[in-house]
Amino acid sequence: MTDKYAVVGYPIAHSKSPLIHRLFAEQTGQDLSYEAILIDSEERSFASAIIELQQQGYQGVNVTLPYKLDAFEYATIKTARAQSAHAVNTLVFQEAGETVGDNTDGLGLVKDIEQNGQRPFQNQRVLILGAGGAVQGILQPLLERHPASIHIANRTAQRAHVLGQRFNTAIPITASGWEDIPTESGYDIIINGTSASLENKLPPISPKVLKADSLAYDMMYGAQPTIFMEWAKQHQSQSQVMDGLGMLVGQAAEAFSLWRGVQPETAPVIAQVRQIMAG
Ligand code: ATR
Repeated sequence: MTDKYAVVGYPIAHSKSPLIHRLFAEQTGQDLSYEAILIDSEERSFASAIIELQQQGYQGVNVTLPYKLDAFEYATIKTARAQSAHAVNTLVFQEAGETVGDNTDGLGLVKDIEQNGQRPFQNQRVLILGAGGAVQGILQPLLERHPASIHIANRTAQRAHVLGQRFNTAIPITASGWEDIPTESGYDIIINGTSASLENKLPPISPKVLKADSLAYDMMYGAQPTIFMEWAKQHQSQSQVMDGLGMLVGQAAEAFSLWRGVQPETAPVIAQVRQIMAG
């Protein structure tokens, strides 16, 4: 029997996850199905929808907005990185009735930058823009790569301070609002984790944060370069820019590997999805 998986969320119709997992299944020769399933919380709760999927024989699901916290609460076993993120994007239904909740977003981002961007984090000065759920999910996996330092800047400075203080690490983590980002030495890797790009807005930061060879990474993605990527190129034409499509494919690859025990290659899938997006 073909093993069944799905992504759940609201809205869900435009999710690229079914395409990505179909490409992974083809690449690795795995027999599985993967659908997008809408959970409308006005009709049924997240928990009752998930129980139904378990009863129907699904082996696991990906969870997207707005249910990552519900999935965290639903999971009976939470991985360390799910606990750090306080959010779950992957559920694994076990035969004994337990549900493992994991968060693969951070590792998806880290590996995208290391492997597809060819930028190891070790000893790098990292600047993170934003302090919301998306950023919370990436900090632990990023710290495990031993960057030289991390500065978190956010519109609401207090939120950046609170987030920075949560981690017990020897790696220096500092925080500020937009105005007070230290710019003396610039940053090797700058990650935009604000939802500002969605509204086509830039965080109002000084271009002095950029060095000639900085990587500017936007966790958002689209058919065109994001406004943040354009900003980086405009101020440092040699800078490397990446959007978050690789993170999306990367988190899917880690979920696929948890479910199937096989690690798919992301680069060809990123290229295929990008081609489809370009129409
Ligand atoms: P997500 O899960 O996408 O991170 P979130 O938890 O609501 O969603 O966080 C959104 C992030 O984007 C926050 O860092 C938010 O800044 P505040 O903490 O000050 O709210 C940031 N953000 C949203 N809209 C923004 C804008 N127009 N300009 C700059 N930052 C913005």
